[in-house]
Amino acid sequence: MVLRPLRKLAPSPEAVELYDDWLAEIGERLEDPACDRNDLCVEVLRGLLYPQLDPGVEESRLPAMTRVALQNLDPRCVTLEPEYYDEIDEARYYPRKPLIWLWQMFDRSPLGGNIHLGVLFRRVLAPYVLRRVGRNFKCFHFVEVSFGYNLRVGDNVVVHRNVLLDDRGGIKIGNRVSISDHASIFSHTHSIDDIVDVKNIETVLDDNVRITYGATVLAGVHVGVQGMVGAKALATKDVQPYHVNVGIPAKPARVKSIAPPEYRRRD
Ligand SMILES: CC(C)(COP(=O)(O)OP(=O)(O)OC[C@H]1O[C@@H](n2cnc3c(N)ncnc32)[C@H](O)[C@@H]1OP(=O)(O)O)[C@@H](O)C(=O)NCCC(=O)NCCS
Repeated sequence: MVLRPLRKLAPSPEAVELYDDWLAEIGERLEDPACDRNDLCVEVLRGLLYPQLDPGVEESRLPAMTRVALQNLDPRCVTLEPEYYDEIDEARYYPRKPLIWLWQMFDRSPLGGNIHLGVLFRRVLAPYVLRRVGRNFKCFHFVEVSFGYNLRVGDNVVVHRNVLLDDRGGIKIGNRVSISDHASIFSHTHSIDDIVDVKNIETVLDDNVRITYGATVLAGVHVGVQGMVGAKALATKDVQPYHVNVGIPAKPARVKSIAPPEYRRRD
């Protein structure tokens, strides 16, 4: 066995100072209850995506395409998929929406792939977007949530690229959970007879769970502590603690050697 903990590294000190100052400014603005999050989103995205644009420009004189591009920075001019869901709690969603849009558009900007900056940027937004977020949340780019307000995240959780966290019915993620690239965690499902018959049911990933590359966890599944879902697996049923489930539908393939005796029997 070769242990390869991640290297510790950082960009140049000048860049770190600049990033920290900028993030602190955004953090302070968000702490102010009077902050207009829509305006903040527009301001940040204009700066990131159109830095050469004169702030005093008379927008009505710009070409229509440019005006469309600028409108698209404003969360009030955009609709997102969860807004179409019937059961949306508008009082909880709309304060979050500007920051969900800012998060997504940051990821699509030239800055999105900067791991150092991106992880810190998302850490600033996460407490205002998610229902709960623990310490050291490490979120890579192109992660999407649904409502945000139904997603609880523990300490030291890592979510890799292109992950879908559909918290429509609620997702509870424990401590030290890792979710690999292209995984999807669902918490709603549709009746096979009638697509608008939607069942929302919480999905739970206990402490130390690993959902690996491209795996899907369906609504209502409970992955027990230290449980693992193998690459490209489809977890349709609960995963027992310390079990490694693989395949479609996912079935136990192994029990971790660290499992206490009571979990060694596969079922
Ligand atoms: C599930 C996994 C952890 C099992 O690893 P392992 O303990 O070394 O298990 P093995 O390779 O000995 O496989 C055990 C059995 O499960 C099968 N299996 C392993 N992974 C599988 C998978 N993802 N899907 C379907 N079957 C799988 C093997 O073919 C083998 O079957 P057999 O006993 O019939 O020959 C591993 O295969 C996996 O999927 N890892 C995730 C990799 C990943 O996502 N990496 C991302 C890096 S961030």
